[in-house]
Amino acid sequence: MTLQSDCCGVYFPNPIVLASGILGTEAGLLVRVARSGAGGVTSKSASPRHRTRHPNPTVLDWGYGLINAVGLANPGVAAEAPILRAAKAELQRLGVPLIASIFAETVAGFAFAAETVGRAAPDLIEVNISCPNVGHELGKPFALEPESAAQVTAAVKKATEIPIIVKLSPNVTDIAEIGAAVEMAGADAIAAINSVAGMLIDIHAGRPILANLEGGISGPAIRPLAVLAVYKLYEAVNVPIIGIGGVSTGADALEMIMAGATLVGVGSAVRSRGLEALGTIATELDALLAELGYTSPDDARGIAHVTS
Ligand code: FUM
Repeated sequence: MTLQSDCCGVYFPNPIVLASGILGTEAGLLVRVARSGAGGVTSKSASPRHRTRHPNPTVLDWGYGLINAVGLANPGVAAEAPILRAAKAELQRLGVPLIASIFAETVAGFAFAAETVGRAAPDLIEVNISCPNVGHELGKPFALEPESAAQVTAAVKKATEIPIIVKLSPNVTDIAEIGAAVEMAGADAIAAINSVAGMLIDIHAGRPILANLEGGISGPAIRPLAVLAVYKLYEAVNVPIIGIGGVSTGADALEMIMAGATLVGVGSAVRSRGLEALGTIATELDALLAELGYTSPDDARGIAHVTS
């Protein structure tokens, strides 16, 4: 069985990719995940300038996954580029692609961030327009409207030759409409979904648990939402889709692929299954594909789309 997958002309040894954010910006951790069998790794989103985290508490395991409001803490793209360059050198030896994630407060900031991380020669750039945790500071995420999502996409596309993946939000009425808009604006691929906006309340304190009050929910609780988003996008766009949201087993990954995903992002499962989670999920996927009679992930991609 081959798990090899191609996304935008980049070869992945298997389709299970570390999602952005869960492990921060350090090169060493990205390389460790690659060594333990990930098909690709994504760095935490880096912005034009250094950003500090929101006050604690920023993350909570609430039993069905995580809720987080980290606030896109990162050292800034100028400091991040050499870290990514070091990671890339090691990842290249392992044959595992690097996806550099970027974030910015403005359209021009996105272009600047893309140009700067481009110096580290990542294989792909993820354009994170969908973080739900900085709204009070920056207003609505760009991913919430087709026009603003397309503006960022077009600006980043102009700023770099590296293929770009635009990461979409589930916190919209029609994700397919946003997907079509970013595809039209030049996105080479789409990642879906970012975390789902939510809140947990400490009933003893009588106030929201996170210092940011609201946060993004990830993990098993959001998997059906993510599968539906990928399913809808697959019917609306022709670019590859990276399906992200609650995947923690090979069966979950296969579900995403059957909905239409080319690659499958894994984040919160690192918390429940350890750094080896991605390699384990790839092995489980391999066994499951063989058991069900598929010769590759490509064979199973999109087969859940039924014509009524
Ligand atoms: O708060 C955070 O750093 C989360 C970022 C994201 O979901 O994109």
